Amino acid sequence: MNLQDKITAAAEYVLSKISLRPTIALVLGSGLGDYADTLEQCVKIPYSEIPNFPQPTVEGHTGAFVFGVKEGKQVVVAQGRVHYYEGLPMQEITLPVRVLAAIGVKTLVLTNAAGGVNLGYKPGTLMLISDHINYSGANPLIGPNLDKFGPRFPDMSDLYTRDLRTAIKETAAARNIPLEEGVYLMYSGPNYETPAEIRAFRTLGADAVGMSTVPEALVAGHSGLQVVGVSCITNMAAGVLPVKLNHAEVVETANRVHDLFHKLVDAILQCC
Ligand code: HPA
Repeated sequence: MNLQDKITAAAEYVLSKISLRPTIALVLGSGLGDYADTLEQCVKIPYSEIPNFPQPTVEGHTGAFVFGVKEGKQVVVAQGRVHYYEGLPMQEITLPVRVLAAIGVKTLVLTNAAGGVNLGYKPGTLMLISDHINYSGANPLIGPNLDKFGPRFPDMSDLYTRDLRTAIKETAAARNIPLEEGVYLMYSGPNYETPAEIRAFRTLGADAVGMSTVPEALVAGHSGLQVVGVSCITNMAAGVLPVKLNHAEVVETANRVHDLFHKLVDAILQCC
């Protein structure tokens, strides 16, 4: 089965299960997945039920679409994501984003946990993504172009839509939510970066580094969606502080900023 047929079959299955038709989707990263629990009128579709869907293998990534209402708006939350380092090609891990586009989503909000490369950041800083650097070594748009979604050579000059970012920064300020803005660099993982890599990434213009988001943003951009990205800086990147990095710290910081992060996502929904 080719990629387009896989997307069509998955989208048809999802549409057969729901009456809501949300235009906003959220992809929730490490430790941030419980935002879906705050939706009203929930319908949950586990990824394991959806034909051709990739299954997340990382702890803290459940793997389900949750449809519901939040801030008076219909939304769908993609709870958990599959990362490139789990071993599937990027075309496969971004299948959920293609399916969201196929069922009528117009705005994709991507969240992630990331390491702070900008020396002005601290664990717990929330960063609106202004742009990204694809340092993953791969690209989900390689292969036959999916003409139903977008062109062979898609423009990426306003991927993280400027107008939406302006509205989000204003709303966050009005609600007393501290919010930085910066460039996210994707590294493949699964190892954390070396201190030398982090110094190089800082020179390249990165403010945060992580192992997700870029494939989804590229596919969303190709599909004509507006993209919003938020990083929760869960730790300073390798070599910034004289400590070793571990996943427990990532989850711990994500838990600590949990309430503020929920407020920020509410503010984002107001703007979409
Ligand atoms: N590097 C890469 N990915 C991450 C990090 C990091 O320091 N923290 C959370 N995700």
